[in-house]
Amino acid sequence: WPYYLAALIGGYLAGSIPFGLLITKAAGLGDVRNIGSGNIGTTNVLRTGRKDLAAATLLGDALKGTVAVLIAWQWGPQTAVIAAFGAFLGHCYPVWLGFKGGKGVATYIGVLFGLDWRVGLLFCAAWLAVAFTTRYSSLSALVGSLTAPLALWYFGERQMAELAILLTILLWWKHRENLKRLLAGSESRIGGK
Ligand code: G3P
Repeated sequence: WPYYLAALIGGYLAGSIPFGLLITKAAGLGDVRNIGSGNIGTTNVLRTGRKDLAAATLLGDALKGTVAVLIAWQWGPQTAVIAAFGAFLGHCYPVWLGFKGGKGVATYIGVLFGLDWRVGLLFCAAWLAVAFTTRYSSLSALVGSLTAPLALWYFGERQMAELAILLTILLWWKHRENLKRLLAGSESRIGGK
């Protein structure tokens, strides 16, 4: 169990690095939490008009999850699953930001690429399919996140599937304001004004 604890804490610390916030601050754009949805993720960084910074945020928020999983994998898949959970928690509830973090989409995809890249690809494919048809980033994430537990279960990865159920529930919880806006028809679209 010392490895499990180290994976949880290590994953959490990696996950809690708020790339969106750091990157936009470094670019002199101020605090991204004061614009758009107030979120620190890729979609909201995109609302600054800087696609390059949004891409960097996506990469950073995803890779921190992948790296945490791949390092922990040395002590077995179970340790990797715990690191994945830690990284997701760290991103969504970072101690440095008073536990007000992101919504978990990029980090979820990142840990999936570390655990089973096929499922990471599937999440991305579902995200892109919904995004191209509706241009709702949040809806794309909500739908995409359903594919992970189903696919992991289908591939016989019981423990990873259980983790994914938990992550999908947390992701939906973090998108509750988006859900309300989607149902009310007031959610903003990618590239929309
Ligand atoms: O990645 C988060 C996305 O699903 C929604 O972001 O800023 O529109 O709340 P946002």
